[in-house]
Amino acid sequence: MKTIIEPFRIKAVEPIRMTTRPERLDRLREAGYNVFRLRSEDVLIDLLTDSGTSAMSAEQWAGIMRGDEAYAGSRSFYRLESRVRELFGFKHVIPTHQGRAAERILFSTVCRPGHVVPNNTHFDTTRANIEARGAQAVDLPTPRSQRRQEPLPFKGDMDVAALERLIGEVGPDRIPICMITVTNNSGGGQPVSMANIRAIAEVCRRHEIPFYIDACRFAENAYLIKLNEEGYGDRSVESIAREMFSYADGCTFSAKKDGLANIGGFLATNDDRLAEQEKDLLILTEGFPTYGGLAGRDLEAIAIGLEEVVHEDYLEYRLASVRYLGEHIAQEGVPIIQPPGGHAVYVDAGALLPHVPPLELPGQSLVAELFVEGGIRGVEIGSVMFGRRDPETGEETAAPMELVRLTIPRRVYTQSHIDYVIEVILEVFRRRESIGGFRITHQSPVLRHFTARFEPLYDFGGTG
Ligand SMILES: Cc1ncc(COP(=O)(O)O)c(C=O)c1O
Repeated sequence: MKTIIEPFRIKAVEPIRMTTRPERLDRLREAGYNVFRLRSEDVLIDLLTDSGTSAMSAEQWAGIMRGDEAYAGSRSFYRLESRVRELFGFKHVIPTHQGRAAERILFSTVCRPGHVVPNNTHFDTTRANIEARGAQAVDLPTPRSQRRQEPLPFKGDMDVAALERLIGEVGPDRIPICMITVTNNSGGGQPVSMANIRAIAEVCRRHEIPFYIDACRFAENAYLIKLNEEGYGDRSVESIAREMFSYADGCTFSAKKDGLANIGGFLATNDDRLAEQEKDLLILTEGFPTYGGLAGRDLEAIAIGLEEVVHEDYLEYRLASVRYLGEHIAQEGVPIIQPPGGHAVYVDAGALLPHVPPLELPGQSLVAELFVEGGIRGVEIGSVMFGRRDPETGEETAAPMELVRLTIPRRVYTQSHIDYVIEVILEVFRRRESIGGFRITHQSPVLRHFTARFEPLYDFGGTG
């Protein structure tokens, strides 16, 4: 059969509240034009993130009832630990309330001022946690990632030659850790090849630099290796994932993505001494090492999610639904990062609105227009999120790309929801020449995109 169906039936439904265009315009104005400041009840289709938004399975909900809430030695922790050891292969599993807590504990333990941490592309919380330690976060994406509209495989790879150069320039002693993010969320959700993971691991081993994987979307990455990398077509996703992790010394993981859970994460490592230091810090700020700030039921849901996420009928449907959105808008001329990513479609707002300069935030314009047009909430990944403001001069520097990410939550929306999204995007695309820019009127010094307020520099909403 040609049609790839959702490999599940729907057992519980959550109503969507219908809204009108004038209502959405009012809500967006009240929110300072920042979609992070909207109430979710005012959003029709929420593509802000795939993080913590998954629908859990009947088995996971049953696991919620089975969760062992013991403060110490919870059965649910051991179930999670055993699944992580089986799939990821790391010796120590340290649960945390979400991915950034794992990052904070890891970087607080290994980073100091003057250190440099390379990655293919750091996610915003990863970068912020490194910088909070006084260290420098360096992105080393493959040059192929710049060929945005060419559907090349594995554009999430790291530039291995650039990694060698960086190590030569700063010296291995200043690099406490090297990371790779799979899939590369801030670089268009593109996968990383096994060959690249192997090559980075080899460079790191030669220079005695610990190699970590930001594993949030490991299953989507493993499935894309199966589909597109020679030699992996006949392998199971589980065995591909195991091979990916076998090259690493540890990982950070947000269970809100490929854990198919609504909260949770962990830090894993093979290093006994480091694990001890990390657990000490965990006790100080997160909780005892067999719960790490989570309820026992959450640990249980993650353990089950880590079983379900490697099922290939699920991954086939998951990747197909993202591809469906990407292909339908691209064939009408909407510029997207090609190929569509594992968890999201990244619209190239800079190319869609070439008349809006990067410092007038074309991604912010597109996000605001999609919300007013059809109640769709996407997220800007451009100069709002990654641009910089000089605290002294107030001068702004633009990000390298102006993207809007339309992120598909796992097992939540059906094909007709996606058809509606396509219709709304095409409507905004048709009137793109009338769309202008925005400016920031209020911002905080770190992670400003979450709370910033904006003002349109054009007749936004057509009301003069
Ligand atoms: C690649 C990547 N790393 C780390 C994180 C942080 O995880 P959390 O939101 O659970 O703190 C995210 C979240 O979106 C992510 O996409």
